[in-house]
Amino acid sequence: MAKPKNLLSTQHLERSAVLSLFQRAKQYLDKLRSNAPFSPVLSSKSILFAFFERSTRTRLSFELAAKKLGAIVLSFETESSSLGKGESFLDTFRTLDAMHIDAVILRHPQPGSAAFLAQHLDATVINAGDGAHQHPTQALLDAFTLWNTLPNLEGKRLCYVGDILHSRVVRSGIFLWKTLGVEIGVCGPPPLIPPMMEAAFDVPVFSTLAEALQWADILNPLRIQRERITEGLIPDFAAYHRHYGIQIYHLERYPHLLILHPGPVNWGVELAYELQHVPQSLILAQVEHGVAIRAALLAWLLT
Ligand code: CP
Repeated sequence: MAKPKNLLSTQHLERSAVLSLFQRAKQYLDKLRSNAPFSPVLSSKSILFAFFERSTRTRLSFELAAKKLGAIVLSFETESSSLGKGESFLDTFRTLDAMHIDAVILRHPQPGSAAFLAQHLDATVINAGDGAHQHPTQALLDAFTLWNTLPNLEGKRLCYVGDILHSRVVRSGIFLWKTLGVEIGVCGPPPLIPPMMEAAFDVPVFSTLAEALQWADILNPLRIQRERITEGLIPDFAAYHRHYGIQIYHLERYPHLLILHPGPVNWGVELAYELQHVPQSLILAQVEHGVAIRAALLAWLLT
């Protein structure tokens, strides 16, 4: 696969490119774990962080990776920028592009915002989440974590549970997991499953957690995205937890199950508090793998 200029979606990533990214990320993971220096391959590069939505994991893991690779890291502060004087989104980023920045890492609530910028900028654009549309580096870090945990991904079954409707993690994951031979299912309350999900994405849809538990090797519960949800879709979080929350007895009954979660977790809603330290949970491993895969991605795209 020719090296892409931008990373906007997982849809067109080829399997060979993904596996080579994982190999590179594995080397960064070893260095991260042993606190060994990364080769400063981005020492002449400048990377702009533009986050219009809150983030802990994505922003700081990208920033750590960029700094370890020697890049100059710039932070676009939406509150203090000239956006407040009426400058448009596009003029703002054209202005920054004129400073010869090498990359923009963008998180924005508007679906398509990263693709829009990519059409207009010389700089590389990395989509760090655009509304409910795509979050490609989340999918990459999830898959890298599992690739580094299991001897073989082929034929494994992963089920997303919860707020499928608002999930960019699912939309990115579906493409990438299929590329890697992992079967995908989704489970959740019918109002939180997009219409035509089964037909559009060719994935089984389970309306009960019992069906998902029987089917899956890996469960990927999702946060209920209160910030994107309209009134009435989830009337009662306690009822949601009773019907769709993963409990310790589920893991006792299905001990082979692994748990992924993109974070942040609403403990007591999609996952019971008792699951914070179970060995089946890969949640903190995902965070660690996120630094390594983002370092590998930056090194791939920018060198
Ligand atoms: N998973 C994820 O994107 O987390 P943050 O919102 O903390 O970056």
